[in-house]
Amino acid sequence: MSLLPNTAFIDPTGKNRAAVEALLHQTVRLVVEELSHANTRSPLPAPLSTAILKQWAAIPERSVAADVLLAQVRSHILQSMNAAHPGYIGHMDSIPTTMSVIGDLLVAALNNNMLSVEMSPVFSRLEPLVMQQLAAKFGLGAQAGGVMVSGGTLANLQALTVARNVHFDAVEKGIVGLTRQPVFFVSAAAHTSMQKAAMMMGLGSQAAIAIRTNANSQVNIEDLKDQLAKARRANQQPFAIVATAGTTVTGNVDPIEEMGAIARQHNLWFHVDAAYGGALIFSPEHRHLLTGTRQADSITFNPQKWLYVTKTCATVLFKNFDVLKQHFRILAPYMGDDEQWSNLGELTVQGTRHPDILKLWLSLQHIGTAGYAEIIRHNYALTAQFISQIQSRSWLQLASQPQMNLVCFRLAPHGVDRACLNDLNKQLQHYLLSPANQESEQMPDQASSVFLSLPIYRGQRWLKAVLLNPYTSSDTLERLFARIDTFVREQVPADSASVTH
Ligand SMILES: Cc1ncc(COP(=O)(O)O)c(C=O)c1O
Repeated sequence: MSLLPNTAFIDPTGKNRAAVEALLHQTVRLVVEELSHANTRSPLPAPLSTAILKQWAAIPERSVAADVLLAQVRSHILQSMNAAHPGYIGHMDSIPTTMSVIGDLLVAALNNNMLSVEMSPVFSRLEPLVMQQLAAKFGLGAQAGGVMVSGGTLANLQALTVARNVHFDAVEKGIVGLTRQPVFFVSAAAHTSMQKAAMMMGLGSQAAIAIRTNANSQVNIEDLKDQLAKARRANQQPFAIVATAGTTVTGNVDPIEEMGAIARQHNLWFHVDAAYGGALIFSPEHRHLLTGTRQADSITFNPQKWLYVTKTCATVLFKNFDVLKQHFRILAPYMGDDEQWSNLGELTVQGTRHPDILKLWLSLQHIGTAGYAEIIRHNYALTAQFISQIQSRSWLQLASQPQMNLVCFRLAPHGVDRACLNDLNKQLQHYLLSPANQESEQMPDQASSVFLSLPIYRGQRWLKAVLLNPYTSSDTLERLFARIDTFVREQVPADSASVTH
């Protein structure tokens, strides 16, 4: 008797079809069952004990029955970040489109490889065509195109590597012969993947020169000009300027147009990190925030964020797609070639790569641009409600004026020592995550729990809400602010000047 379970693989001659179908049905039932009442579980369950995790991690000698495994997977689901909960509003992660879940299952079953055309004959052709259309929506013009990568960090790395290669003709020679240090300019509020890219490119993380921001977390143009001049005086060699469209903590947008003009004037590569805010290409009301992206040489855009595609799903788009062939490509001679279509593994930081294009394509087809516009409209309506709730309470403070569906704020009652605010906001975060009726004997009411994240912003702890989840409603926010009021009544000294108890 074989040591292999009957369903170890899907037999291509159909011999185990019934057993595989039963297993997949069981799995689908489990997923739908658990996700259909995700609102009754905490948005962020407490972590499991290390002892249990170690028990799970042990590698067995003999096959463990599928039933037993699915029972364990149910525990994994119950202990996982629960982004489907309407109160999970702490990060740029949300419930995924159903079609992207299906897309992931399908590509996993097909197990094609984006490394080369022969290893993914459909997806290697579909990806560049969809990328061209996204690039067109950012106004990048007729020569534009792009590739998909696993996340915005890799997208930024690839864009900046191409920028460096173009500027220093570095594909073959590298940068070791340079006598002046290559540097690029990013907002002080930019994502940390900028420093990571500089570090991985061998420039050192200090090569990502931080530009001061205004009260709204947007690049200060005067400081950008000053830093450019300073870098030249210090004998450094600038090669790129990066604008952010949707900063990670406050969702603000840099002055893209002006930054692009400065890049052009100084003959520097212009990259726009629209990992988050890029989704506004689908919003007739708000796409004007992206005006200026047409000047970009490259753009990072993550459909895994505001387009609700399962992780990972990120893109890096180039105004001139051929630049990748001239300034990035490393040929893979062990792969077949195709005159019309590129082996994408030669053009991206990754080699073997998951065909993320299917779930993106399926989501775009199923939801359509009008569907995305509608979701974004809902997100903005909730944001407006959120802001007005904050503004009607003198003890709440906004970190910046939101431009997207991110609201960064904190509890800052007058009269409470500033040094205590970090702790106070941490306590509030904890309080909001706990079930509303935790002291009662009945089942805890997880439906009203809310997860807000607690980022450090300008050296202080703030609370962050990302109003992404299409099931987060006006009622969710009403309940959230009612609980904030209760917390303030119970925890903040009544003599705090502006708190009316
Ligand atoms: C503006 C911005 N850029 C880049 C990234 C990095 O994306 P990823 O986490 O997919 O690598 C993020 C992540 O939140 C981001 O907010």
